Amino acid sequence: MPQSHSPFDPVEEDLYRRWRERKLAAQPVGLEETLVEIADPRRPTAAEQSRLLDLCRRCNFALYATPCGADADPKIPLGVGQALGLQRLDHNWLGDADTGLTSITVRREEPRTRYIPYTDKPIKWHTDGYYNTPQRWIHGLLLHCVTPAAEGGVNGLMDHEMAYLLLRDADPAFIPALMQPDVMTIPAREKGGVVERAEETGPVFSITAEGELHMRFTERKRSIRWKDDPTAQAAVEKLGEILNHDAPYRHHARLESGMGLVGNNILHDRSAFQDGADSQRLLYRGRYYDRVRDTGFRSLVADL
Ligand SMILES: [Fe+2]
Repeated sequence: MPQSHSPFDPVEEDLYRRWRERKLAAQPVGLEETLVEIADPRRPTAAEQSRLLDLCRRCNFALYATPCGADADPKIPLGVGQALGLQRLDHNWLGDADTGLTSITVRREEPRTRYIPYTDKPIKWHTDGYYNTPQRWIHGLLLHCVTPAAEGGVNGLMDHEMAYLLLRDADPAFIPALMQPDVMTIPAREKGGVVERAEETGPVFSITAEGELHMRFTERKRSIRWKDDPTAQAAVEKLGEILNHDAPYRHHARLESGMGLVGNNILHDRSAFQDGADSQRLLYRGRYYDRVRDTGFRSLVADL
């Protein structure tokens, strides 16, 4: 439970109203407004850092462009992350052992062929690490493009706090329904009778000790069990509408060589893509236990 008042707590009506007003006023109008040029991503300047942080405060992500092109040095994305307080990487089992980043590219060998990120297929809306145990929940996210696809590979982006806001506006009862600790279950991952990852049950929305919002969600229809609760199920349906039916506050970005996305763990998807005859899409992904520093509801509503 949160140790302090939070606008994300369903009982905090007045606080929520004040936060909502500032949040809406702070939203970027178009994707161009979210892009920051970084001259040397291994060491972003104070001015570049403050532009990135300002965007993360407003919409929980920023896009960045560097002059690095297809330079695959992992220090490029790691430098951007570190400058924003993203330090503690989740070393997932398919990650690159030396850096803690994960290379997202089409793989032809087991076991990666079994997982959609390592194919050229589309990925539905989700937050990262929704199947992780609470000790390993993901709060910060970074994607850095070394080589884009020949065609496609566009990321849909939506601030998870805006999804929360639109849901709470639609029906305040949706929020406690999605905060139930048993609302969303991801079944165990098994192969040949061996459990590779245990079943994981948890809330969609929860509030951290600092009063910030965390979201675990996947839009996938298979290998997921929603609680048999009409309000929760209506909320999930509404969220699907918000994410897919041209709702405001969604963005679509195609990362080109040297570009990246950095922020808190927002909702995102990926369209299908096609690699070229002699080039393969390669993105580095960093999943962090940290949030971007100095972001959060108090940075928007200082007098709370
Ligand atoms: Fe993801």
